[in-house]
Amino acid sequence: MQKQSDLLWVEKYRPKKIDDITGNDEAKALFLEWLKNKRHTKKAVLLYGPPGVGKTALVLAASREFGFSVIEMNASDTRSEKAINEVAKPATSYTSLDNFSGGGKTGGNVLFLDEVDGIAGNEDRGGVNAIIKIVEESLVPVIMVANDPDVEKLRPLKKVCLLVRFQQVRIPLIIALLQKICLLEHVKAEFEALERIAQNSKGDVRSAINDLQSLSEENHSLTLQDTMMLSSRNKDISMEETLRRYFSTQSIAEASSLLSYSSVDYDDFLLSVSDNLPKRYTDAAELAEAFDFVSKADLFRGRIGTENWHLLKYFFNELAEASAVNPQSYKPFTFITPPIRVITLFWTKGKRSMLDTICGKIGALCHVSHEKAKHDFVPYIRAILQKKPKSPLAAWFDFTPEEVDFLVKMGRF
Ligand SMILES: Nc1ncnc2c1ncn2[C@@H]1O[C@H](COP(=O)(O)OP(=O)(O)OP(=O)(O)O)[C@@H](O)[C@H]1O
Ligand SMILES: [Mg+2]
Repeated sequence: MQKQSDLLWVEKYRPKKIDDITGNDEAKALFLEWLKNKRHTKKAVLLYGPPGVGKTALVLAASREFGFSVIEMNASDTRSEKAINEVAKPATSYTSLDNFSGGGKTGGNVLFLDEVDGIAGNEDRGGVNAIIKIVEESLVPVIMVANDPDVEKLRPLKKVCLLVRFQQVRIPLIIALLQKICLLEHVKAEFEALERIAQNSKGDVRSAINDLQSLSEENHSLTLQDTMMLSSRNKDISMEETLRRYFSTQSIAEASSLLSYSSVDYDDFLLSVSDNLPKRYTDAAELAEAFDFVSKADLFRGRIGTENWHLLKYFFNELAEASAVNPQSYKPFTFITPPIRVITLFWTKGKRSMLDTICGKIGALCHVSHEKAKHDFVPYIRAILQKKPKSPLAAWFDFTPEEVDFLVKMGRF
C-alpha cells in the first residue's frame, strides 16, 4: 500500500543517505569532517545557505548514518527563551546524561536547531543568547541551520561555531534529479520542460520537485507548454517591482514582455493593477479607458481558469494596453499593495490562526517552519486538495474537515 508520506514527492524523495544529497560537495565534506572528528574540538556547527538545497536533509541523513539520535527544534517557531530552553534542556542537564552519553546502540546524541535565523525576527530578544548559552553548556554536539547567517542578531553565533556554507544547487544537477524522479514516477517529460522548472527554481531543489509534481502528476506527462503556469518563483521580479515597471512602461510591447517574464501571481497582479490605476491616471477619460482594458483582461483570466493557458497572451495584451494608455503622463507614485480585496475580505483573525495551525501541522511533518510551510507547501497542498478534497494527504497532515475546507476555499494569501 502506498504510504501517505509518499504523496508528497519532496517527502517521498527526501534523501535517506548522505549520498542521495546532490551538489554542495565541499559543504557536505566539511560537515561530515566535523561530525566525525572536529565536533570534539568545536562543539557547534552552523550550516547556512539558500532554501531548499538540502541542509536539513543532510543533517537528518548524516545523523541516521552515524547512528546519532537527533533532538530537533525548529527555532523559527520557538518564540521565547523559555521554550527554547525547554527543548534543549536535556542536552545541558547532567541528570539526563545517561540518555545522552551515547551508551547502548546509538552513536550518541546531537542537538539540532533548525532555521535559527527565524529567531531573529521573534518577539523574544533573548532567543539568540539562549542559543549561545545552550552551545556553551551543551554536553552534546550542536548543529544549527540558517538561511542567512548575516542577520545581525545571529552574528554572536558565528563566534561559537564552525561555519559551513551551502550554495544554490546547480541547474544541471537539479535537471538530473528531476529526470530520476520522472523515471520512477513514470512521467514522460520534455527535456526543455525540466530545464525550465530547474531554471525557475533558482537552485531550490524543494521548489523544483514541488513544481514537477504539481505539473505532471495528473497526466504523467510534461511539456514545455505546461510550465507556462509556473507560479511566482521568479525571485528576481517581485510584485512591487513588476508594478513599478508595469506602470512606468513606454509601450504596449514593453509591458507585454514584462508580464510574460514576471511570475507574480496573476490574480494578485490583476487586483493590484485595479487598486493602483486611479493613482496612475488622474485624467478621468484615460482612467476609464484603462479600466476598460483591465476588465477585458479580467474576462480572459476567467476563461483561462486552470487549464486554458493558451489564452494567457490575450490576458497579457489587455493588461499591457491598460498600462500604455498615455505613457507620457507617468509620474512615480507609491503603490497600494498587497491587493485591497485580499486584505479586507480574506484576512480575518480567525482565518489567520487557522492558517497558522495548518502550517504548524505541515511544519512538523516536513521539517520546516510555519513561515516556510506557508510559502512553499500551502499553495501546492491547496491545489491538490482543490482537485481531490478527499486526498489521503489531508489525513496524513491530520487536517480537520474545517481546515481542508479552509484550504480548498482560500483564494490566496
Ligand atoms: N541537494 C539535494 N539533493 C536531493 N534532494 C534535495 C536536495 N535539496 C533539497 N532536496 C529535496 O527538497 C526537500 C527539502 O530539502 P531540505 O529540507 O533539506 O532544504 P533546506 O536546505 O533545509 O531548506 P530550508 O532552508 O528552506 O529549510 C528534501 O526533502 C528533498 O526532497
Ligand atoms: Mg531546512
